[in-house]
Amino acid sequence: MTILETHGLTKRFGDLTALDGLTLGVEAGEAFGLLGPNGAGKTTAIRMLTTLLPPTSGDARVAGLDVRREAAAVRRAIGYVPQALSVDGSLTACENLLIFAKLYDLPRAERAGRIQAALALVGLSDFAGKLVREFSGGMIRRLEIAQSTLHRPRLLFLDEPTVGLDPLARTAVWEHVERLRGELGTTLFLTTHSMEEADSLCSRLAILHRGKLAAVGTPAELKASLGRPAGTEVTLDDVFLHYAGDPLGAPLPEGGSFRETSRERRTARRLG
Ligand SMILES: Nc1ncnc2c1ncn2[C@@H]1O[C@H](COP(=O)(O)OP(=O)(O)OP(=O)(O)O)[C@@H](O)[C@H]1O
Ligand SMILES: [Mg+2]
Repeated sequence: MTILETHGLTKRFGDLTALDGLTLGVEAGEAFGLLGPNGAGKTTAIRMLTTLLPPTSGDARVAGLDVRREAAAVRRAIGYVPQALSVDGSLTACENLLIFAKLYDLPRAERAGRIQAALALVGLSDFAGKLVREFSGGMIRRLEIAQSTLHRPRLLFLDEPTVGLDPLARTAVWEHVERLRGELGTTLFLTTHSMEEADSLCSRLAILHRGKLAAVGTPAELKASLGRPAGTEVTLDDVFLHYAGDPLGAPLPEGGSFRETSRERRTARRLG
């Protein structure tokens, strides 16, 4: 069953076409990865799919619902872990989750149970009463995943879930995200700059290059698509460079990394 589909999805910011005619389908139960260099349009695509940004043109259906005309219903069907921070450092893990339990309108009698289950799923049961500003980056990410899945969404969007995490914390996030898919059947739609993560976590990948879809397929299909001689070892790094690597001397896309960095700094300050 197709749980997400886009047809010619496009976003323009003034003269810049951040996402240019994206046509894509994702099946229920997949872990779908969106790859691309800084500024390629990944976050822009996710913001439209999560109804936070209106498309300039084209269509998208998420969980069978139109992101434009049925935005409220789409929001109930999905979870979203944004690229920037989405928890409050001055509250405990449990308090952060309670805010979202109310936001999602979970029945009062179910809230405590759902919060406990969500904390257990991401391995944070022992930290329920601890202030989040004392958490490590990996624990914060796991809490954000718990927070965005309290209402058991059919589809979870994760924008760079493991950026800035050490290898151990990253592996822990992968494990917990895999459990979501295995135990609750949640479809995953994620962006990442880690080719290792894309290779081990994703059933299929799409590569964006300057707003355009450059390639889509399973990791194995994408590797095979380079047509290297049999016996040559091809990695996803090779695939990424092939489809999204600019020739030497090409100008870097405007803005992207500075904008993200300054946003991350701001959120870091907020955590204090
Ligand atoms: N609100 C906005 N106003 C103007 N330009 C924007 C806006 N949001 C994004 N852009 C531009 O659109 C392009 C795509 O940005 P986007 O954030 O989608 O990239 P990305 O693939 O998520 O990059 P990164 O890997 O750095 O997160 C960039 O050139 C960015 O500067
Ligand atoms: Mg982004």
